[in-house]
Amino acid sequence: MLEGHEVWTWPENRTMPRRLLLERIADAHGALVMLTDRVDDEFLEAGNRLTVVSQMAVGVDNIDLDACTRRGIPVGHTPDVLTETTADMAWALLAAAARRIPEGRDYVLGGHWQEWDPDLLLGSDLWGTTLGIVGMGRIGAAVARRASGFSMRVVYNSRSPKPEVEEQTGAAYRGLADLLSEADHVVVTAAYTPETHHLIDHDALVRMKPTATLVNIARGPLVDPAALYQALRSGRIGSAALDVTEPEPIPADHELLSLPNCLVIPHLGSASRGTRLAMATRAVENLLAGVAGRRLPWCANPGVYN
Ligand code: DGY
Repeated sequence: MLEGHEVWTWPENRTMPRRLLLERIADAHGALVMLTDRVDDEFLEAGNRLTVVSQMAVGVDNIDLDACTRRGIPVGHTPDVLTETTADMAWALLAAAARRIPEGRDYVLGGHWQEWDPDLLLGSDLWGTTLGIVGMGRIGAAVARRASGFSMRVVYNSRSPKPEVEEQTGAAYRGLADLLSEADHVVVTAAYTPETHHLIDHDALVRMKPTATLVNIARGPLVDPAALYQALRSGRIGSAALDVTEPEPIPADHELLSLPNCLVIPHLGSASRGTRLAMATRAVENLLAGVAGRRLPWCANPGVYN
């Protein structure tokens, strides 16, 4: 596939063991990594011939960008191609949790469906309500665009107001505390950084409405799992739907999985066939550019070129 290059590929469909990764990286000029690989000083020291690190994901919180920049190593990632697919999944999760679809499925599979019941599994409406979006990057904006189909108003919070998105979607900027109390449902799309660790904690959750659904489509550690468990169990909020968890993968006996109002899926936001192919293609294009000494088409640390 990569003419003129010797390519070594980890053949197994699971994260490469760290020791082996550090061994194999020693000879490499370029590395194509997954979001489950930690790219830190140890990795970069082991791979001291690397001229590029290319990640097949848009989020790069597993990569120490400063350490790469200090060593003059550009980091590739895959923005844009997964935006719409991930926004679709945010809406799928929101609708599923707010309207209690997984509980309905369990009810049918459990043989409990005997007759139509006017009180059965009543959920929260989406249409006509207010959606709060935490983080207004590409994915946040794509989530906001879809809200008009449900006649929803959008409020959002991000590091700074985004006038273009406001113009396109009618979304209104709010401080985080105001957003949480005003929104009927909240979707988290923010980037994970040390500053956003447990952004949705106990104090945040107590501001939300008791009928609200919380969706996390970004990174697990944006939400404090212990606080979420308490909020869901006590009925402080209505439901949650998590594409991402802390820890990830979440163990099957984790307390959150014991709650009927918590839907968890295994980090599938961008998992459509077309999008994963587009991500892989971008990752390879970044890799090839890097080993050829060309500027990466999609670079997460452009400061490396200054
Ligand atoms: C990303 O790209 O950062 C997603 O989490 C995986 O699609």
